[in-house]
Amino acid sequence: MTTVLVTGGAGFIGSHTCVELLEHDYDVVVVDDFSNSSPQALTRVEKAAGRPIAALHEGDLRDGTLLKRVFESHPIDAVIHFAAKKAVGESVALPLEYYDINVSATTSLLRTMLAHDVHRLVFSSSCSIYGQTETVPLDETEPPSPTNPYARSKWFCENIIADACLRYPELTAVALRYFNPVGAHASGLLGEDPRGVPNNVMPYMMQVAIGRRPELQVFGGDYPTEDGTCVRDYIHVMDVADGHRVALGRLSSGFDVFNLGTGIGTSVLGLVGAFEEACDVTIPARVVERRAGDVPKLIADPGKVAGAWGWRAGHDLHAMVRDAWHFQRLNPDGYETELSLTSGSPS
Ligand code: NAD
Ligand code: WQD
Repeated sequence: MTTVLVTGGAGFIGSHTCVELLEHDYDVVVVDDFSNSSPQALTRVEKAAGRPIAALHEGDLRDGTLLKRVFESHPIDAVIHFAAKKAVGESVALPLEYYDINVSATTSLLRTMLAHDVHRLVFSSSCSIYGQTETVPLDETEPPSPTNPYARSKWFCENIIADACLRYPELTAVALRYFNPVGAHASGLLGEDPRGVPNNVMPYMMQVAIGRRPELQVFGGDYPTEDGTCVRDYIHVMDVADGHRVALGRLSSGFDVFNLGTGIGTSVLGLVGAFEEACDVTIPARVVERRAGDVPKLIADPGKVAGAWGWRAGHDLHAMVRDAWHFQRLNPDGYETELSLTSGSPS
């Protein structure tokens, strides 16, 4: 039994990863301040996995006393570090908050890990560090060129972790650069439940489908893509979760980075069409002005992780939209929906 500290374990990707870890016999300790999640997510994690997490420490990762207590209270073998703020637009308005939460917290986490002889780290990075690139598909040799404080915070963290691994050879870490994680756990117990108006296309579309919002605005119909709308590499959140579990088993020495994507691009209208076909629900969608900062196409070259670990994403677009809809239908109000209402498999 290995004990893994999961920071941000109640969040979208963190909660799905906790289930994956529990199902593979890891003990899981979570630190989360619930600033962008609900404690309900962890209740659902335990129900989905059929066993409890070892401990929850509610609080801010920047709180040094809390961090010390966490490492002193559990025999932690490895850390998966998800906790961060992730809204690109908000990061432009609140750069110092983003650097504080995303970068400073990572530095204190590394210090505390080293002080307690914990030497294995999996870090949440993002395809957003590649910035305004025209390269398609993108492999890890693409020079990062982040264009906003959020993306820069992830790029800074990668560098900080790489420098720490150089200085402390006992430390080993990987940064996983996720492309566009979507979908939900197949049980319908867990899914994406953003606070306020969703920034991302998939949760927005789910809220349109369930009737909470009147229409999906498609940002830009004049991009140089097949149907004029932006193309992204959507990846099922359970594949992202699986990638973290596999990464834990592969940590051996030094620092490395890997894309987590499928290598398959889907346009916004393609995503809408796939959802309508798989779930038999019509989405009112209207093409509007472009959103500032969007690039026409972002698609991963997933070859490096396939070559190094033999790892590939296993879910297709049909599973992504089906599982996202299954969660939304069973939980029309997200995690506010009573647990007893949620059961069953996706149809
Ligand atoms: P999320 O907001 O759902 O999860 C983040 C979790 O961290 C939340 O539970 C939040 O309450 C917690 N948290 C935030 N600040 C904290 C703090 N100071 N102390 C303690 N807990 C704190 O986000 P997510 O989509 O699950 O993303 C997880 C990670 O993956 C983030 O680092 C994000 O930048 C990265 N990422 C996400 C995506 C995506 O599209 N979802 C893509 C690439 C990378
Ligand atoms: C996808 C496409 C939009 C909403 C973001 C972050 C990135 C990473 C992944 C964290 C784009 C279009 C969107 C809507 C739309 N996250 N869209 N209507 O921008 O590719 O990436 O999530 O690291 O950093 O920037 O994802 O879901 O916001 O947008 O038409 O209401 O959907 O213009 O083309 P994005 P997204």
